[in-house]
Amino acid sequence: MVVCICNAIREKDIRAAVREGACTPSSAYARMGRRARCGQCVSFAREIIQAERATA
Ligand code: FES
Repeated sequence: MVVCICNAIREKDIRAAVREGACTPSSAYARMGRRARCGQCVSFAREIIQAERATA
């Protein structure tokens, strides 16, 4: 599923970034060399990060 349309970032990309140490949407995006633009994805990205961290 695409989470961030502006950057074409998928849920699996965010989960992988969390497993590499990212704990915020901005740090996860930065690991992919990207940054939030419109910001619409940020709350959903945060939920994914929390879910992934809960299973770690
Ligand atoms: S959808 Fe992620 S910055 Fe726009």
